[in-house]
Amino acid sequence: MCGIFGYLGPQNNASEMAIDGLKNLEYRGYDSWGVACKNENGDLLLEKHIGKISEADDLRPEILDSINHLAIGHSRWATHGGVTDQNAHPHLSHSGNIALVHNGIVENYVELREELKKDGFEFKSETDTETIVHLIEKYVSEVGFEEGVKKAVKRLEGRYAFLAIHKEEEKMIAARTGSPLIVGVGPLDNEYFLGSDVPAFYKHTKRVMYLDDEQMVIIDNSGIRFFNTKTDEAIEKRVVELTLDIESAEKGKYAHFMLKEIMEQKDTLSRAINQEPELIEGMAQAIEDARGTFLIGCGTAGKVALTGSYLFSRIAKKHVNFTFGSEFASYQDFLTDKTLLLSISQSGETADTLEAIEVAQKKGVKIASIVNVESSTMARISDLVIPIKAGPEKAVASTKATTSQMAILTLLAYACAGKLNEGQQLLAATAGKINDMLNPRYEDHIKALADKIVDVESMYIIGKGLNYPMALEAAIKLQEVSYIHAEGFAGGELKHGPIALITEGVPCIAIVANDETRSDILSNAMEIKARGGYIIGVSPENSEIFDYWIKVPDAGNASPIVNIIPIQILAYHLAIGRENNPDMPRNLAKSVTVK
Ligand code: F6R
Repeated sequence: MCGIFGYLGPQNNASEMAIDGLKNLEYRGYDSWGVACKNENGDLLLEKHIGKISEADDLRPEILDSINHLAIGHSRWATHGGVTDQNAHPHLSHSGNIALVHNGIVENYVELREELKKDGFEFKSETDTETIVHLIEKYVSEVGFEEGVKKAVKRLEGRYAFLAIHKEEEKMIAARTGSPLIVGVGPLDNEYFLGSDVPAFYKHTKRVMYLDDEQMVIIDNSGIRFFNTKTDEAIEKRVVELTLDIESAEKGKYAHFMLKEIMEQKDTLSRAINQEPELIEGMAQAIEDARGTFLIGCGTAGKVALTGSYLFSRIAKKHVNFTFGSEFASYQDFLTDKTLLLSISQSGETADTLEAIEVAQKKGVKIASIVNVESSTMARISDLVIPIKAGPEKAVASTKATTSQMAILTLLAYACAGKLNEGQQLLAATAGKINDMLNPRYEDHIKALADKIVDVESMYIIGKGLNYPMALEAAIKLQEVSYIHAEGFAGGELKHGPIALITEGVPCIAIVANDETRSDILSNAMEIKARGGYIIGVSPENSEIFDYWIKVPDAGNASPIVNIIPIQILAYHLAIGRENNPDMPRNLAKSVTVK
């Protein structure tokens, strides 16, 4: 959510590097973008536009014509204030001497804005961000840039990351609490980058230093210094060398990242399950030892977590509680130092999930996480981590991370049952079946369905047992990229109300696994068909109830993994048919770092 970029170093095209870096952060927000740089005359130049940074080249921004060694940039996902040039970042202070970019929310901004207005500061935007830059300026006039920022940070409430520069200083100052910010080091002497995520600068360096919560960093020609924002104490940091697969972050032969990432599921499942057995067994042991385990996640990762609770019940005969990250705090009275929190996240930066972890940590709860981004905050603050190794997932809609997360949960459930080997064999066989399934003919068959239903207004999806969470996940996938009104239900729940929504011809996907739920879910599909619904069966076997059959391999307890894949493909082709950009759906961003 919002991408931040910063550069200070010997190269003289900092603004160009900012635009380039922001393009790699566009998945974090794409409402508007902006760059501020300091030119050779010491002026602060500012350029901001509504629209996507990927379209910046058509504009030929003027800032590219200056020589600059210091630049900051931002791609926005609007929270406070609409999508306008004025609300785009960077924001300038009252005097125009300070430029600032920000990600997150300043919760006490109303109170700060009133105070600053009384002090004579004029506000040009509707953002909470502008309060930070004016507040810094207020203190800079008293105690200078560095001390001014330190003073201002102490007044901020909420979760945020910001980066500020001053017209009269060769310096970048950044602080974070709750939102991600990473320093890239070198490769040239005295060269530093700042980014919300590593892709901001991975072309230039893979050497990083992590900024943690309640920390700030000051970078200038004399080097880099870290401080605690509460106590002002200096902090020592070490440089970490990352190993990143840059190629897999490119689209290659695919028109969109979403399709590429769906197709990558031919390999990603194998990568997920090829873990050191000790890692799986270690986390399974923690689940065994815990007196109460909570599985949490948000959005798609939440649906994965819910699937996990079914997997543990079915395979390991173990009760594991499920709750969405944003709802977890309501259960805090049940937490003790014997509880385990198992959190699922692709990015490892989702604010709602991180806040749940904070709540749990305060109660002494042990934190285990299943994440994709190994350099993420979640991975770093967890006691136990299993990386899913899916490679960069750039499309906003999660696909390959989803199935890899489910694979790890399946392995954990088998490990808890003392049958890790059986789980590994099941998933290895499933990976092979997915490989066979994902061929052009299969995609064409689903595209033909998408062409048929492209203009519908609503869709419904039903599932039962292990595949009930997949009905919910299918709905998210369809909603976010096709913008069709889609809702997922437990098949048995339909007759208790939602069946009133069924009208002639409305498409309903029935996820029908080859298990004890088959006959029930087929009966539910029949109930829909009797009211005119058009039944799309996702199942290893055909049925006379289906109007359209999408065959999936029979994968036993791995059925949620195989069943969601054709629905991902359907969502993709519906998006294309409706002329939506599936990689950057409206109103969304990949990494939701605000509450
Ligand atoms: C949907 C989607 C979101 C994320 C959610 C959590 O396709 O991608 O619902 O699943 O925002 O994100 P992570 O997994 O990064 O914590």
